[in-house]
Amino acid sequence: MSERQGQAPLFEALCRHTEKNTANLHIPGHRQGQSIPEGLLSLGNRDLFSLDLTELPGLDDLHNPSGPIHLAQELAANLYGADRSFFLVNGTSTGIHALLIATVGQGQVIVPRNAHRSVLGGLVLAGADPVYVIPELIPEFGLDCGVTPATVRVALEDNPAAAAIMAVSPNYYGVIGDLPGYVEAAHRVDKPLLVDEAHGAHLRFHPALPEDAMACGADAAVQSTHKLGGSLTQSSVLHLQGTCIDQHDVAAALRLLQTTSPSYLLMVSLDLARRQLALRGKGLLDQALELAYRLREQLSMIDGVSVLSPEHLPMGARLDPTRLVISVRKLGLSGYQVQQLLAERYRVYIEMADSAHVVAIVSIGSVRADCEELARAMEDIAARERKTESILLIAPPDNFTVLMKPREAWFAKVHQIPLVEASGRISAETIAVYPPGIPAVNPGEEITVDVINYLIAVRKIGLPCQGPSDPTLKTITVVVE
Ligand SMILES: Cc1ncc(COP(=O)(O)O)c(C=O)c1O
Repeated sequence: MSERQGQAPLFEALCRHTEKNTANLHIPGHRQGQSIPEGLLSLGNRDLFSLDLTELPGLDDLHNPSGPIHLAQELAANLYGADRSFFLVNGTSTGIHALLIATVGQGQVIVPRNAHRSVLGGLVLAGADPVYVIPELIPEFGLDCGVTPATVRVALEDNPAAAAIMAVSPNYYGVIGDLPGYVEAAHRVDKPLLVDEAHGAHLRFHPALPEDAMACGADAAVQSTHKLGGSLTQSSVLHLQGTCIDQHDVAAALRLLQTTSPSYLLMVSLDLARRQLALRGKGLLDQALELAYRLREQLSMIDGVSVLSPEHLPMGARLDPTRLVISVRKLGLSGYQVQQLLAERYRVYIEMADSAHVVAIVSIGSVRADCEELARAMEDIAARERKTESILLIAPPDNFTVLMKPREAWFAKVHQIPLVEASGRISAETIAVYPPGIPAVNPGEEITVDVINYLIAVRKIGLPCQGPSDPTLKTITVVVE
């Protein structure tokens, strides 16, 4: 046997990371146990393994719940104002897949062009036909701030057969769309509004935060409780209300998609996170908001740095103040460079970076030292690393032609060809630059001259892309015709 079998590289990397004493401004929101729901830390004075159980008598069955899982889901529904809630053990991604299978199938669905890749996964699994709607951009930041309800209404008028409308709110940058406007647009034609609310599990627990999708009347919302609600990574909840969506169809889709061996540790963490939010959510968020407001103030005073604030947003959109979107463009640095400096030089870990921003999350587990370290590190970076030229940003083309369903492109025979020879061909991949994270092309769409010119410009400026099989963008994967 190879000597390497004595190694455990992932375990060792995690141990090394935890020894670094880092500042932590990222998910999961419990911040390495800082605000772990009461009971989970001590696991009721038992060890981790003693609770790693399975469907034994008295412990219920996630796929056919009638005992404690049923009761725990009922309490979650009650807290979030839903008629029914489902625990998910493979993140919000599975909830989105299930909703698309249950409500759209092979029909049409209105989808924001900046949807998370789990939506594309759902379109492929369901065989659905996307009608994309384009979000508005925040000029100074180049970020998307949601689709307007008027755009949704026009898409519904042009596509009366659409089975549902998807929205993403909040988006990764903490921008909450005009949810009441989407609900009105959807319900006037009796269609369900499905909200990807991966970043919104905490919203309803503090009056200073914008209302969440259930409060605004959405038919379905899927929340990554693990991101901002304090549960363990991968645990999410899908909420349903009203009569537009058949609960049994959603339950059936979840039986199809979720493992037959769901982790009791994940499910227990959802139960305990729900209890913690119900009993202490407001207090924990008081503290998070105070830290976030102070950090926002400190960062805004740094020359060359600006922080996304409510005054940058158009009417109807709102901002989650616990999310700090820090533009570093005027420092002449990309967000990726700043993210790397923060981690390597200052041991400060933030949630994400794009070409122009770094995004930090202040959660219910954040501590003052995390925020102080980030503010100090950003001041130091601004003083020492500032370049003379700002990073250039370019907007992706906003016209696209869907020639094939994403599912057909996914299962088609594909090959890679030079980008410059791809005009008129059908893409088999997604290519997006952040910001704004709006794909230039998706699987099943025509590769136009505009797309090619945009991608050549992206390559010249050196903006990293998400999705392409060839990160140098010299080639692109297309459907064999
Ligand atoms: C907007 C958005 N939707 C959905 C997801 C998927 O959530 P999960 O990781 O819980 O599957 C993410 C994950 O980052 C996301 O940012």
